[in-house]
Amino acid sequence: MNTTALASMPLSPKQLLSCQESTARINVWEGSVRSGKTIASLLRWLLYVATSTVRGELVVVSRTRDSAARNVFAPLMDPDLFGPIAHQVQYTAGAPTATILGRTVWVLGSSDVRSENVLRGLTCAGAYVDEVTLLREDFFTQLLNRLWEGARLFGTTNPDNPAHWLKRRFLDRLHELPDWRTWKFVLDDNPVLSEERKAAIRRENTGLFYRRNVLGEWVAAEGAIFDMWDPARHVIGWADLPELVDLIAVGVDYGTTNATAALLLGLDVDRRLVLVDEWRYDAATAQQRLTDAQLSAGLRSWLDRPHTPYPTALRPRWVALDPAAASFRVQLQTDGLQGLVSAENDVTYGIRTMASLLGSERLMVSDRCAGFVTEAPGYSWDPKATEAGEDKPIKTADHSLDAGRYAITTTERLWRPAIDLRAVAA
Ligand SMILES: Nc1ncnc2c1ncn2[C@@H]1O[C@H](COP(=O)(O)OP(=O)(O)OP(=O)(O)O)[C@@H](O)[C@H]1O
Ligand SMILES: [Mg+2]
Repeated sequence: MNTTALASMPLSPKQLLSCQESTARINVWEGSVRSGKTIASLLRWLLYVATSTVRGELVVVSRTRDSAARNVFAPLMDPDLFGPIAHQVQYTAGAPTATILGRTVWVLGSSDVRSENVLRGLTCAGAYVDEVTLLREDFFTQLLNRLWEGARLFGTTNPDNPAHWLKRRFLDRLHELPDWRTWKFVLDDNPVLSEERKAAIRRENTGLFYRRNVLGEWVAAEGAIFDMWDPARHVIGWADLPELVDLIAVGVDYGTTNATAALLLGLDVDRRLVLVDEWRYDAATAQQRLTDAQLSAGLRSWLDRPHTPYPTALRPRWVALDPAAASFRVQLQTDGLQGLVSAENDVTYGIRTMASLLGSERLMVSDRCAGFVTEAPGYSWDPKATEAGEDKPIKTADHSLDAGRYAITTTERLWRPAIDLRAVAA
């Protein structure tokens, strides 16, 4: 079986070349967003699964099993891309294993601690890694250690911080690493991306994100995080709130000496996320600390009030609470608050998601979210973290931003399908 027999779609020259050349132990497709890296590498992965005789297990690694379902298995199972072979791939989101061409494949979420135990016990014959830079360095190192003689790894990534472990330890040292092979993709390497879509992607990414996501450069994060933030584009008057089809969640950031903030996230009829309403209690400005019981009462009475300028039967489905707020969580549970979950707290991933939503105007903010609107422009990258290879914000006034981030990232699986449909339509 060869590459062209597997593909039912036309490939760009770079895609074809990378499929043919990826015979190294470690093969990494890097570069711009939407540039065709995943499709080319998946094609190569299918070929590997179909033909490899190396003993051991096959694994697919992504940040979470949900992102594996979205980024890896959704395209693999799409007959428009992979023709009849798509029917020989089976995966149910969240499951520990998938079947590809009759072979069992482990699906590991790298942010899940249980995955490390699974990994430790594996002899790996082949690995597919979605978004390598999102893996922790020790997870990746462990994965390399598990690769059996003759085993291969295929991975994709967007560029990140130039001091990121993947760049410093590997990509900058390719001349010393004969078992590595990489390809750099740009928008033009995707054969189906229309000029309109390319123009939209260029428009949607500004500053740091333009250089990384469009140009494919490994550049340091400095200055304003949300440099695409523009009140004229992103803030809407609450009185003119668009019609909502869902109230997805409330994100809650908890502080005893700092502010406690709650942000309500909805989805509107135009498939945009909207931060609809905000509640804050700031112990410093109020010059009085509230007990957990008082904060809980304040939050719950706000939740019971109307959040839209028109009548609606919608109620927020989830409350995504600051995972560090153990005592407040107990209080809210005691008070019988429904839908309480611990918030997803991968800060860098959350920021990246919010920046991309803001850039493409798929996240709007009502002017009732005064804390969010005040904090957004001053949110900045921490130069010390940047030097150490990590993208991290300076811890300043970020309570409403954190609450918004909790609501958005914790519920990604609920809103992502609607938002992606909107992107396709654009
Ligand atoms: N050869 C091809 N034939 C048909 N569709 C393609 C081809 N290459 C890419 N696409 C489509 O283009 C889109 C982007 O491709 P892909 O997901 O591979 O990009 P990517 O580089 O992995 O992007 P990201 O960095 O955002 O993950 C996908 O929706 C995919 O279906
Ligand atoms: Mg991809």
